[in-house]
Amino acid sequence: MKQDALWKAQLERLNDQLEILPDKPEETAETTLKALWLTAAARPVSAEKTRGMALPELKDDQQNLLAELIEKRLSGIPLAHLSGRQQFMGVELLAGPQALVPRKETELLGFAALDHLRELHTQLQRDLSMMDVCTGAGNLAVALTVLFPQMNVFAADLSADAVSLAERNVRFHHLEEKVRLRTSDVLDAFDTDAFYESIDVLLCNPPYISSAKVPEMHTEISDHEPSLAFDGGAFGIKVLSKLAHDAPKYLRVGGWLGFEVGLGQGPAMQKRLTIHKQFDHIQPILDSDGHIRALFAQRIV
Ligand SMILES: C[S@@+](CC[C@H](N)C(=O)[O-])C[C@H]1O[C@@H](n2cnc3c(N)ncnc32)[C@H](O)[C@@H]1O
Repeated sequence: MKQDALWKAQLERLNDQLEILPDKPEETAETTLKALWLTAAARPVSAEKTRGMALPELKDDQQNLLAELIEKRLSGIPLAHLSGRQQFMGVELLAGPQALVPRKETELLGFAALDHLRELHTQLQRDLSMMDVCTGAGNLAVALTVLFPQMNVFAADLSADAVSLAERNVRFHHLEEKVRLRTSDVLDAFDTDAFYESIDVLLCNPPYISSAKVPEMHTEISDHEPSLAFDGGAFGIKVLSKLAHDAPKYLRVGGWLGFEVGLGQGPAMQKRLTIHKQFDHIQPILDSDGHIRALFAQRIV
């Protein structure tokens, strides 16, 4: 088929049939088609990276592969699982069913963390130490190290599958000397003298959906992404509670704890940090609708 006719026919199909989840605003019929087209041409990229990219001509077998990929996408398989790519904070990453596909909303936490890292580096004039627990695909750890290389990073996840994808992302960006990974229940694997009071910025994007709400999630998520990435226990704050309790042991005085919260969880978590004696300078990070989507707190004693 001629390339123009192929593009037009498949774009029309995607425009008619593709359902796009609200937490993946970078995916449109057009960016989806471009990402799948480039994947069929053996040049896989994320939806975001396709912007401004020219498309190569597809041979017959590649046109067949594109048709198969579109079929799979319309059946609900996430685009990032088909392309194997997802962009986060402008950094291209490997993606797959082993871990959550990094979401745009988590960039709020990431960019606020970047501001804290830059400010601390200006104050302290030395390389910093960062931790990222519940690292998933390693998106916060890897993207932040690409954007701010003056630090050493320790990242961990309870899921060995997630850790192996995060390790692939570390290698993808040649950061083996800077980012070290462990399998861990929250901070438990770091419970040694070497890590106590040593961390400048401690980040976490935890699972925060209450267990009762997990079955109500869209099937594109519940059928294809690991439930460990969402299920935050009866009230959705099982991991967050453990994190808030354990974090001061690892943060140095003056260091920052930052974590993402689910819609509606912000005020209660903010209050919890406010009454915590070791934290002050609580900073809520708001989305464009004014909802708290991340919180930062500084260890003061
Ligand atoms: C919402 S995902 C976040 C992944 C990634 N940081 C991101 O921003 O996309 C939560 C991650 O927490 C991990 N996780 C769940 N329970 C955990 C626990 N008790 N300790 C450490 N990691 C845990 C899951 O495997 C998942 O990778």
